[in-house]
Amino acid sequence: MSVTVRVPAKVNVQLAVGGARPDGFHDLANVFLAVGLYDEVTVTPADSLRVTCEGPDASKVPLDRTNLAARAAEALAARYGRRADVHLHIAKDIPVAGGMAGGSADGAGALLACDALWGTGASRDELLDICAELGSDVPFSLVGGAALGTGRGEKLRVLEVGGTFHWVFAVADGGLSTPAVYGECDRLREFDRLREGVEVPEPVASGALLRALAEGDAVALAAALSNDLQAAALSLRPSLASTLAAGSSAGALGALVSGSGPTTAFLVSDEESARKVADALVASGTCRAARVAAGPVPGAVVL
Ligand code: C5P
Repeated sequence: MSVTVRVPAKVNVQLAVGGARPDGFHDLANVFLAVGLYDEVTVTPADSLRVTCEGPDASKVPLDRTNLAARAAEALAARYGRRADVHLHIAKDIPVAGGMAGGSADGAGALLACDALWGTGASRDELLDICAELGSDVPFSLVGGAALGTGRGEKLRVLEVGGTFHWVFAVADGGLSTPAVYGECDRLREFDRLREGVEVPEPVASGALLRALAEGDAVALAAALSNDLQAAALSLRPSLASTLAAGSSAGALGALVSGSGPTTAFLVSDEESARKVADALVASGTCRAARVAAGPVPGAVVL
């Protein structure tokens, strides 16, 4: 017997980052949108915990206990006083270390799959608590749709969305480390503070952006897209500027770095425009691949 769970990627349509907290995290106003690129996590009873992965980037996925899927299985097993004796197989389609919550998706997927396999009967709130312990983006991977994340991103308020938004994602060569990007953001801000006395404002969700989501208005959403980590991602990976420029000149309504990057996200008006922008991005030679996806889509689901 085995259980398979499908989990979507995310793009942050707004990522407002506050100052560094004493615990090393940053307070956020993080507007998540789940998009239709998916990982699938399959759990099968086994003698001991084992992780395998398939997909074009499988070799970049750690298969040890640092894998969020393994940690999710162990966390649920510990809570229910049992052994995490499962084989976790990840069919990976979400870019690895790409700023699209691929690792978080695998954590949420493994948690839901083990819960179903073991029949623990954990409540939704219990599962969300475990997700928050695993990582700041993991609760959203479980919930999906669109949500405003506050705190370090784990406290979610579900958002209504009045339509489907079409996206192109330019996949970069190699990943970026999330802590390194936050660290670079702090460093750049410290520089601005010393030079110009600029203080970091409290992170707040943009009213215009929330209205654009609620109304399903892609043009208004494009105008409101923002990511406070973008300057840091560009500082660590300057070549992303040419990717953003290539997508914008190909007709995207809006462009930004997805989360901590290095994937770049392009909001477009419809599917046809998505294909055109994707082709132009590939032809520009500024990215490794271009993927088309729409959102919002539901979070983790048992297949
Ligand atoms: O929560 P998660 O394990 O995904 O976070 C990875 C790293 O990203 C943290 O260790 C921290 O360096 C950074 N981070 C942060 N503020 C957040 C979320 C993540 O500084 N709100």
